[in-house]
Amino acid sequence: MKVIVADKISERGVQLLKEQPGWNILLTTNDTLSKEIADADALIVRSATRVTAELLDQAKKLRAVGRAGVGVDNIDLEAATKRGVLVMSTPGGSSVSVAEHTFALLLALVRQLPKFDAAMREGRWEKSSSGAEVRGKTLGLIGLGRIGSEVASRAEAFDMRVVAFDPFISEAAARELSVELVPLDQLLAECDFISLHTAVSAQTREMINAGSIAKMKKGVRIVNAARGELINEADLAAAIKDGHVAGAALDVFAEEPPKNCPLIGLPNVIATPHVAGSTAEAQEELGTQVALQIKDYLAEGIIRNAVRREPAGSFGGPVPARAPVPGIGGAARLAGFAGGGVKAGADSHPVCGRGSRSRYASAAQRGVGGRAERSAGRKGERRQCTRGGRGKRLDRGRGDSQARTWLPEHPGSLRTAGKNRISARFYGRRHCAS
Ligand SMILES: NC(=O)c1ccc[n+]([C@@H]2O[C@H](COP(=O)([O-])OP(=O)(O)OC[C@H]3O[C@@H](n4cnc5c(N)ncnc54)[C@H](O)[C@@H]3O)[C@@H](O)[C@H]2O)c1
Repeated sequence: MKVIVADKISERGVQLLKEQPGWNILLTTNDTLSKEIADADALIVRSATRVTAELLDQAKKLRAVGRAGVGVDNIDLEAATKRGVLVMSTPGGSSVSVAEHTFALLLALVRQLPKFDAAMREGRWEKSSSGAEVRGKTLGLIGLGRIGSEVASRAEAFDMRVVAFDPFISEAAARELSVELVPLDQLLAECDFISLHTAVSAQTREMINAGSIAKMKKGVRIVNAARGELINEADLAAAIKDGHVAGAALDVFAEEPPKNCPLIGLPNVIATPHVAGSTAEAQEELGTQVALQIKDYLAEGIIRNAVRREPAGSFGGPVPARAPVPGIGGAARLAGFAGGGVKAGADSHPVCGRGSRSRYASAAQRGVGGRAERSAGRKGERRQCTRGGRGKRLDRGRGDSQARTWLPEHPGSLRTAGKNRISARFYGRRHCAS
């Protein structure tokens, strides 16, 4: 097998592929890619390499493209599907990193950290009111998926009330996270902070606009570490200037890098360059996960996290179970795809599974290289000791043993073990079946 790794992924991911007997793993750059792709079986990219129809035309043997990350904007999905090339993403690998960054943004915004830091750098000791507490405030999450739920559990530690709008999440699943599901208009009207955690779709594109902002409480603060297209930037800038919105903290922009974004530079706006998921831990996890998925597909025909372009008008609607992914032979198996469907709610979407091979299990949890070990559900025990009622969330349920499989040398597995169990359960029931 020949696998091309076109963008940098973790050493561990590369190693995993190199360990396969007879496999040729080529780390290449854009300059040589078009030549090397001709006889490659699989291609691994992050966001830098553009997988265009022209590139795919040269890839006569290509069976799969693995994207270390969630967004597949750099891959021509339609062209890949036409040519029978499976595209896989690695959702979930950076969820904790993005959630932590969301909180960093939220706290920096409410405590005006950039303003104080700038004054100190200029030698000014400007003591003034530094914002407000988040304790007791209401945080509204638009999208309660992987990242939204991680944000919710962190908000609980800050004693915030958390409400969420997510048409595809069950009340029971939200309750397990101590989150109240509310209609969008109620969320807009009640929240002190609104944080976006959904993908871009026909329904969500520019959902933050003059109309929705008018329904928000005066003084609301908005955080976006999801996708820039969710916000009409001109409308938000106008609302910040007229004081209706107290501020915004943004990691993502409609155009990246932003050229004429009306928000950047406003006094109450904090901006970071789409780095929410760019931690060492997340990159390690994503690299390992993508390598494992490619290995499993090429060696055993197991498909995980396949991405297809969503059929027009199918948003939120039923998608046939076991939907065929073109180009995959009869021997291919959809991992954990026990009669589930295809998740809706994005321009493109991963095929998700129920049960032990849920997309929420980290690469390490699935036992990379067969060296997985069992732990005693550490996160669950810690929570029960320290957080009283929160321990109740970690009741023994389906997927327990899988959720507690972790690699000691792989921090991501321990980090997410407890939450994955919850996610695997509620997504298995509701999300995939919708
Ligand atoms: N800034 C970064 O570096 C970074 C990194 C990773 C992911 N992201 C982005 O974060 C976002 C969330 O990622 P995730 O992994 O949590 O995705 P996810 O699919 O797990 O969760 C998205 C949630 O949005 C919900 N949803 C769908 N349509 C909705 C609607 N109309 N209104 C409200 N909710 C709706 C879905 O039901 C789902 O629960 C995505 O946009 C992703 O691209 C950003």
